[in-house]
Amino acid sequence: MAWLVIISSLIALWLASLFKILHGSRSSSNDAFSPNGGALNKRNVLLVVAHPDDESMFFSPTISYLTSRKYNLRILCLSIGDADGKGNVRKEELYRACAVLKVPVQQVKFLDHPDLQDGFGKVWNHSLLTRIIGEEVTNHDIDFIITFDNYGVSGHCNHCDVYHGVRRLLSDGSQKDIEAWELVSTNIVRKYSGPLDIWFSYLYATLSGGEMRCLLNEHTQKSFLAMAQHSSQWVWFRKLFVAFSSYTYVNTLRKIN
Ligand SMILES: *[C@@H]1O[C@H](CO)[C@@H](O)[C@H](O)[C@H]1NC(C)=O
Repeated sequence: MAWLVIISSLIALWLASLFKILHGSRSSSNDAFSPNGGALNKRNVLLVVAHPDDESMFFSPTISYLTSRKYNLRILCLSIGDADGKGNVRKEELYRACAVLKVPVQQVKFLDHPDLQDGFGKVWNHSLLTRIIGEEVTNHDIDFIITFDNYGVSGHCNHCDVYHGVRRLLSDGSQKDIEAWELVSTNIVRKYSGPLDIWFSYLYATLSGGEMRCLLNEHTQKSFLAMAQHSSQWVWFRKLFVAFSSYTYVNTLRKIN
């Protein structure tokens, strides 16, 4: 009987968490990136990802947060995801996903650079990344960057390289006043705890003393719909991943120092 109680409690907690996400967060009008109500001029955000579908699989709570608060969001995708030769299809899929996520197509940029090709074991040159990201920041007057952290959620080396490219941009002094935030990679239990992870995320963000922001996904359905636009990737195990992954429901961002 004990296991039955545990399972029912877990299901109840799961549903309560989902309810909290869908109905509890919309009323909060304060802005995670301008806690004092200031910084309203800092609205140009660049999300840097490695592959088409990273945005929907990992960053959709952040995207939803920013677009619904009228930030000017651009997405820089550093490869077309051509590991299986489907790069051109995947490009179109990203545009469709971005339409669902309300990021205008003209704000989405791809790269198909010979030295930055999708794949495990393909090492991306950090200084090349820094240069490319720096150009994008300058050209579009970017105020802050959002990207992976040094583990890159899944440990994919391309994700980690993107992080190092951004990090180097912050430290090389070529960009003044630029801020960057990394998506915090969680342990495997939290990663697959679905909406339950909002409680851990809240806790960590509260304990962090202002260095972390916890963003709930106010439009969870949209994340599924966005991910479904990546038809070539939308296989059963990714559907399961999207349902059980905490990254569908909440993102914790930490300021990169
Ligand atoms: C990395 O990129 C930089 C800048 O584009 C270039 O100067 C350098 O030679 C590259 N390094 C390697 C190992 O390819």
